[in-house]
Amino acid sequence: MQTLTLTRPDDWHLHLRDGEALAAVLPDTARRFARAMVMPNLKPPVRTVAEAAAYRQRILAARPAGLAFEPLMTLYLTDHTSVEEVAKARRSGFVHAVKYYPAGATTNSDLGVSRIEKAYPAIEAMAAQDLPLLVHGEATDPAVDIFDREAVFIDRVLTPLLDRYPKLKLVLEHVTTRQGIDFVRAAGANVAATITAHHLLYNRNAMFKGGIRPHYYCLPVLKREQHRQALVDAAISGSPKFFLGTDSAPHARSAKECGSGCAGIYTAHAGIELYAEAFEAAAALDKLEGFASVFGAAFYGLARNPDTLTLVRAAWDVPADLDFGAGKLIPLRAGEAVNWKILES
Ligand code: DOR
Ligand code: ZN
Repeated sequence: MQTLTLTRPDDWHLHLRDGEALAAVLPDTARRFARAMVMPNLKPPVRTVAEAAAYRQRILAARPAGLAFEPLMTLYLTDHTSVEEVAKARRSGFVHAVKYYPAGATTNSDLGVSRIEKAYPAIEAMAAQDLPLLVHGEATDPAVDIFDREAVFIDRVLTPLLDRYPKLKLVLEHVTTRQGIDFVRAAGANVAATITAHHLLYNRNAMFKGGIRPHYYCLPVLKREQHRQALVDAAISGSPKFFLGTDSAPHARSAKECGSGCAGIYTAHAGIELYAEAFEAAAALDKLEGFASVFGAAFYGLARNPDTLTLVRAAWDVPADLDFGAGKLIPLRAGEAVNWKILES
């Protein structure tokens, strides 16, 4: 049987939610990943170091017994994030980045940044103190076509931002386009990107196969096949600028299957296995360890994990649904096979 042993991976972009949802989803991540960069878009969002400390404690309390998962916390950037809060975050030892949601771009982003200029003081402090800015890179101008939002955002916001702060550590989160990949490649070593498993495995046809498929809807939305191929090329390239971030984003079934369904795809139940599929399909399994376990930690200046995770090439069926507090959660591949599984130790 084919096996693959990796330095234990980390998830550099994850939504863990709170309360009973947190308790429902955390074990899936903690069984696979040693650490995860936890997104701050709760309601209300995690805007201060004190709020991040409290959220971190709730995550630690929800950890399954025997699993040493470490949450890496982020702050939610607003028009009012102060230079003092940035300095506090840098000193905290547990806040590792600040997340920039353009206001209105996605789930719980209403309190995000209305105009980037308003956040310049905070971003200037981040650049000076080496605290990374994690970017949801989509233009919010309603006149921009949804499939062009990433490319337009790069031109209108990211390029000028890096011209102004050339040393800023910046991660283009969940990159989805060839333009995004080109932007990251052309920038300095201070600029990187995370890539999700779903954007490596699917193109936009998945949202409409045989009818509208809300469980394939996320933001940034799935793109054309040529963009998926550009993401695969980047992920398997061995460049340390590209690393794993699942963007696993759970929503209750009722919030996805309705007149205005939420954006988000749940992948944590197969968080590393799906990447193994994508790398195998590209005949590049030997490149998975760098992408999943090495490059992200190096970018954030953190040590590699000391232990390993073993994957086995054996198909298993994903359950039709998962418990999610009072509701149900429909995972990616519900009722279908995943071709790799983790060897539980
Ligand atoms: O699909 C998404 N879901 N994209 C995001 O940017 C946010 C996320 C969420 O929190 O549900
Ligand atoms: Zn996200």
